[in-house]
Amino acid sequence: MDFFNQFKTIAIVCTQWGDTGKGKIVDLLASTWADMTFRGTGGRNAGHTIVINGQTYVFHLIPSGILNSEKINAIGKGVAFDPACVIEEMGILDKEGISYVKLAIALNAKLVLPCHVVLDTIRESDSGEVKIGTTGRGIGPLYIDHVGRKGLIVNDLLNKDIFAEKLRENLREKRRILATYNPELVKKIMHQEPLEKGLYYDEKHTFDEEAIVSRYMEYGERLKPFITDVDKLARESLASGKRILLEGAQGHLLSIDDGTYPFVTSSDTTVHGLAKGSGLRERDVDLVLGIAKFYITRVGGGPFPTEFGGEKSEKWCAEKTWEDERARYPSPDLNSAQEMERGIAIRKAGGERGATTGRLRRTGRLDLPVLRYVAQSGVKDLIITKADVCAGMREIEICTEYIYDGPNMRYGQDELTAGYKITVAKPEAEIMRYCRPVYQKFPGWEGDISKIKTFTDLPAELKNILAFIEKETDAKVRIVSTGQEREASIFV
Ligand code: IMP
Repeated sequence: MDFFNQFKTIAIVCTQWGDTGKGKIVDLLASTWADMTFRGTGGRNAGHTIVINGQTYVFHLIPSGILNSEKINAIGKGVAFDPACVIEEMGILDKEGISYVKLAIALNAKLVLPCHVVLDTIRESDSGEVKIGTTGRGIGPLYIDHVGRKGLIVNDLLNKDIFAEKLRENLREKRRILATYNPELVKKIMHQEPLEKGLYYDEKHTFDEEAIVSRYMEYGERLKPFITDVDKLARESLASGKRILLEGAQGHLLSIDDGTYPFVTSSDTTVHGLAKGSGLRERDVDLVLGIAKFYITRVGGGPFPTEFGGEKSEKWCAEKTWEDERARYPSPDLNSAQEMERGIAIRKAGGERGATTGRLRRTGRLDLPVLRYVAQSGVKDLIITKADVCAGMREIEICTEYIYDGPNMRYGQDELTAGYKITVAKPEAEIMRYCRPVYQKFPGWEGDISKIKTFTDLPAELKNILAFIEKETDAKVRIVSTGQEREASIFV
């Protein structure tokens, strides 16, 4: 803890494609170190899981520091704010008797509307368009509206006339776009669960504006006590020397600017986007902690060089459910000769299904070119999570570099031809899809590590791999997370 106590503002970001355990780490630092926690990016697409005394909590929008309810938890302006989701999460907290009186919601956070969810869903279901494999929560269309200067903000929930006027203007364009799709498909989507089963649907005008205004005004009424100027709160907290924890969402490789575009989300998931979205500047952050899972997962489409089972796995994960997989592979073997089965075994052991969508997460080996790429951007302090999942693997493979085997391609000043070695990932989907990983193999270890309390007592094989990761990335491991519970965390 001494190491952390020298800092005032700490940001937690993911160095991979998300789902590395930010929820647990944020909860840990919120309870041991921080005065307050801010979320600055992403939206309902994120799913942050916290396990306390065997009880699991999943939050999509409320910051993962909320279980420390005496502290401020703020949702910043960079967030894609879905009021229905936050109200649902408040309901969960109410049921558990957990207070959220200190929740703050940025008045200028971006407001998710039903039309964003429809557009997201229809674009993903239309066979003519590139499929990203989004979570269907309206994230892309929301940020398009924001940069297109057509978006609504949370404060509009407090002003009926302004909301109605902005909505009318916004929907004018959405109706034109949706008119180019099959009306039956639009109708079907608008009757799905996330769109309140048709509440917002109007046969003639596609959207029933009155129904939307009325429901969103109810949301506004419920959220009114929490809506405030979070930028000001962030500035004042910084000036008064409060310990501020910034909770990232998704992962560096899913960043709109720095990720494997176009297979990314629509916000900047790096520390830059996180600081800005929380009301701070990147230079206000004293320490950036990058979380890396001991293996890697990815949900949705896009290149993933170290995937167990490659394209076969990608297809399997896109088509099958968790239940299909359990029926076909009731007891997958972590040491199977079939690499896809090893990936399935890790998925099962690590519970790797989307916290938001329930989709199967594709699994792969730890990827050092990716980690070096993220480390280069200034993420020099690491948290390693879920090594416990790999206990019992006889051999741990770590990707040390890629060999490019695609068509000749120019990438700035680099001329890529077959056989070109890549040690730092180039986040260009057209390159990544042709990257063949080179693995270094390490002996694994046996036995549960979740009860181990000190770094010294970790298995020698694991410490050996951690030292290798540090050497290869020029970063330092600060926490090793060895299980789901807050206590299963070793400060190095
Ligand atoms: P969107 O954010 O719903 O637009 O999805 C864009 C891409 O980001 C898809 O590949 C999603 O699977 C991925 N994605 C979005 N949120 C998360 C997350 O919280 N964890 C992992 N992947 C995510």
